[in-house]
Amino acid sequence: MDLYILGIESSCDDTSAAVLKDDLLLSNVIANQEIHYKYGGVVPELASRAHQQSIIPVVDQAIRQAGITRDQIQLIAFTQGPGLLGSLLVGISFAKAFALAKGIPLVGCDHMQAHVLAHFIRKPNQEYRVPSFPFLCLTVSGGHTQIVRVNDYDSMEVIGRTIDDAAGEAFDKAAKIMGLPYPGGPIIDHLAHRGNPVAFSFAKPMITGLNFSFSGLKTSFLYFLRDQLKENPFFINEHLDDLCASIQRTIIEILMDKLKKAVEDTGIKEVAIAGGVSANSGLREALNLAGREYGWNVFIPELAFTTDNAAMIAINGYFKYKKGNYSSQDVTPYARSRMR
Ligand code: KG4
Ligand code: ZN
Repeated sequence: MDLYILGIESSCDDTSAAVLKDDLLLSNVIANQEIHYKYGGVVPELASRAHQQSIIPVVDQAIRQAGITRDQIQLIAFTQGPGLLGSLLVGISFAKAFALAKGIPLVGCDHMQAHVLAHFIRKPNQEYRVPSFPFLCLTVSGGHTQIVRVNDYDSMEVIGRTIDDAAGEAFDKAAKIMGLPYPGGPIIDHLAHRGNPVAFSFAKPMITGLNFSFSGLKTSFLYFLRDQLKENPFFINEHLDDLCASIQRTIIEILMDKLKKAVEDTGIKEVAIAGGVSANSGLREALNLAGREYGWNVFIPELAFTTDNAAMIAINGYFKYKKGNYSSQDVTPYARSRMR
């Protein structure tokens, strides 16, 4: 069919554009917004302004890297939600204008579904190994934590979700408590390699079923450090690696316990992870281990497709296009997840 798809992702603090030829990856450009680092979190107004500045150069670069011209793009896919409304509006407005100017169709995509579908991006010169339906996907990002039963490309059911903080938020908040910069997840991951994961233990949630909770862990971590700092003001510096390794181990155990329960409840042993936190080396290792121990068939995305990227939006657009599932010019963004 040879359909050239331009994907646009602007839901949070990364501006990304990607080009696929059908499901084959041609380019995936991501511009990180460094402006937020000094504020210790994403400032929505600054994020929208940075998207506005980056979107044209990022799209240009993606098209150039794909080795095609703008006129060859036949479909434009964009993130409709969930995310920061001001940031989403930049991507949507760009997509509408591009579609109108070129007379091509437009497809709005759900960011959380796109994280799951990132598993189906075909990479040049690589074996195409994809999960078969139905499979389970633990989707863990900065704003969401879900166990999804994936029945088809466009049929997903959330069977477990967080009732408070997301897993990525738990990493970021723990990092902030230790005085580490935003986003803390990758930094904790890095420092954890040098620490002892069982040096400290923190309260784990007592929540039944497949739902998650991370706010109690954050409080337990905060109180533990407050008490230790009273005795020794240098406690964090002296134990940073062990603290990182221990908090990471706890978050991973919480995630893996529920994932194991989901496999038991559903009988589905085809298990994937997705979203920013799926970049975590400890979580990736834990999933591989569970795969070997319990006979699961596991799927771990390449690092480039864990955190926010437009290639996952373009692949989502590809599957929607095949079903004739387009958006109109009056499409609007949404802030909260629509996955049920
Ligand atoms: O999917 P994503 O890029 O954006 C959202 O949709 O939220 O996820 C971002 C989240 C942040 O909380 C970040 O700290 C976390 O993913 N993250 C990690 C790692 N890399 C990114 N958390 C733990 N370990 C990592 N290596
Ligand atoms: Zn995301």
